[in-house]
Amino acid sequence: MPLPAWLEQRLLQAGGSVPFRTYMEWVLHDPEHGAYGAGRLSIGPRGDFATAPSLGPDFAALLAPQIARWLQELPSGPLSLVEAGPGEGSLAAQLAEALMAGWPQLAERLELVLVEPNAGMAVRQRQRLQGCPLPVRWSGFAEMAAAPLRGVVLAHEVLDALSVERIERSGTHWCRQQVTLQQGTLRLEPGEPLEPEDGARLEPLGLLPLDQRRPEGWCSELHPGLAPWMAGCGAALAQGRLLVIDYALEAWRYYAPQRSNGTLMAYRAQQASSDPLLQPGEWDLTAHLCLESVLEAAAAAGWQVLGQTRQGEALLALGLAQRLHGLQQQPAGGATEGDRSVGPQGLAELLARREALLRLVDPAALGDFRWLAFSRGEAASALASGADLFLQEPGKGT
Ligand SMILES: C[S@@+](CC[C@H](N)C(=O)[O-])C[C@H]1O[C@@H](n2cnc3c(N)ncnc32)[C@H](O)[C@@H]1O
Repeated sequence: MPLPAWLEQRLLQAGGSVPFRTYMEWVLHDPEHGAYGAGRLSIGPRGDFATAPSLGPDFAALLAPQIARWLQELPSGPLSLVEAGPGEGSLAAQLAEALMAGWPQLAERLELVLVEPNAGMAVRQRQRLQGCPLPVRWSGFAEMAAAPLRGVVLAHEVLDALSVERIERSGTHWCRQQVTLQQGTLRLEPGEPLEPEDGARLEPLGLLPLDQRRPEGWCSELHPGLAPWMAGCGAALAQGRLLVIDYALEAWRYYAPQRSNGTLMAYRAQQASSDPLLQPGEWDLTAHLCLESVLEAAAAAGWQVLGQTRQGEALLALGLAQRLHGLQQQPAGGATEGDRSVGPQGLAELLARREALLRLVDPAALGDFRWLAFSRGEAASALASGADLFLQEPGKGT
């Protein structure tokens, strides 16, 4: 594929190469050419890639009691449910409906706030949220910090879209990987060595001292965008909780010597590739989170850790097994396709919902996602109240 002219021009203006992090920022978030910036990516089973809320309303229905419980812990007055990186707006829309149906009095005090830097995505969110039963507005953390809110912030599959720094072993150093233009094509190559003070970041991750287990060319990712994101989000919230849901690995797994090419992946049209230079601006690029790096960034921004678990366990604690059982009971009398005795939902839809629920807990798929909950500005009594339903034993959480 020819290199897009806009990218060639940018690289030439930058002297022929840029750090990988800059490249990732451009190809994802450039307002005109970026995959998210231009609103080119679409999320869902028929889009570029699927996420949990794009599989149907059950994910939001299971999450809603947790959100409601956290909101109920907060003092009287207006409340906000903030979603960062809302994609198609499905989770926000489904949660608004579930909260309105199940907790109408709470919902009367509640607004939805969507944080979406990419105008192209915000257009589709506006369409999706037409007719939303809650008041909705779009804002940014910096704007919200002028009058910090009380409520809950959700970050579902958004931190994995923050641009990562790629590091590569070159000789006796760790270098920042760069994207270089060479005779009209893109290449990845080691750039400037990391500064000595970066050693403080690498040592706890097990990346220093350098040894034979990570040979020349071994590469992985660091997440410099996490600390500013956690600080910005923290400044926007006076009191409440943050729930991060994303794919994440412990540092020892993330930076294991055998993982010699990091976790960075490209997605488009339900296809996956490990080549981040493929058709720039057309593919999603995403990297796992490192759990320790998330926790460190959160602590530095004043967040208190409430707990973490895998998605499969969290959803079982929130009643997934009961929901699945309920769906299995629905087609009464041995219904077959086209049999109207299944009620308003067709058999195909019921089967799709069952399959989606199983995907959400499958440890080889979405069930391995991590849920990490944080708190700020809350009294010790609220923290000790047992409001973290998703951490409870299955069956006792709802
Ligand atoms: C992978 S999609 C997730 C969508 C949605 N949460 C879901 O699960 O279906 C990532 C979303 O985050 C947005 N995004 C990217 N960087 C962001 C940032 N720094 N702050 C907020 N949103 C961001 C993207 O434009 C996109 O809407």
